[in-house]
Amino acid sequence: RLLGVTLLGAILVAGAAEAREYDKVRFGVDVPYEPMEYRTPDGELTGFDIELGNALCAEMEIECEWIVQGWDGIIPGLLSRKYDAIMSSMTINDERREQVLFSDPYITPPSAWFAPADSNIETPNAEALEGKTIGVQRGTLQDNYVTDNFGDVARVSRYATADDMVLDMDAGRLDIVFLDFPIGKATLLDSEAGNYQVVGEMITEPKKYFGDGFGIAFRQRDEELAAKFNEALATLKENGTYNEIYNRYFGN
Ligand code: ARG
Repeated sequence: RLLGVTLLGAILVAGAAEAREYDKVRFGVDVPYEPMEYRTPDGELTGFDIELGNALCAEMEIECEWIVQGWDGIIPGLLSRKYDAIMSSMTINDERREQVLFSDPYITPPSAWFAPADSNIETPNAEALEGKTIGVQRGTLQDNYVTDNFGDVARVSRYATADDMVLDMDAGRLDIVFLDFPIGKATLLDSEAGNYQVVGEMITEPKKYFGDGFGIAFRQRDEELAAKFNEALATLKENGTYNEIYNRYFGN
């Protein structure tokens, strides 16, 4: 009996300690990746991910903090506990599932090719891309897809950040770039200076690369934390908060 009570006590203490771990969640995020995560002119982090992440934390009554981290070190940063989760337009795919645990998808945008309005590339296939310079963000699924499929025929320019790539595009150093659609729309199609078009179809296949939408990534063991986020996401979808944020960024 005494042992039973002690054990129960130990379980309760362990449970409380775990719950306390979730009083605050630190998110790793790579910026700028407009409109998902970027800074306002006065340096404040904003974007769809930031607002949704903050709303999820508010729903869960926990604090959240954003830690800026370059994309190519973003999974290592999670695994080494620099932060507790990644919310950075990270596409859920099998390769990453081997390293991290994903939440349910919170948005599912396609990828797309973007080129100058006067580009002679009509269909971005190996023939049309031969000898061209293609821009991608290093370490993204777009990098993997382009490298595997067109790395032999085209020159692939890999950028640490999406905005470095856009700068080179504006400077005329790239023939075409391959990006998550909303980012190309915000930074190229809707940019004041640029004169760009989408070339070809929206791309969502093969799954091996394009996966199952954007998810929040956790360490494999944090199943409970991931479950809480999934629950909060479902609540925000039901109560209109998700739509309100979505429309602010993607409604016309
Ligand atoms: N969705 C793409 C991927 O998962 C690119 C994400 C890049 N995100 C960022 N915040 N820079 O590979």
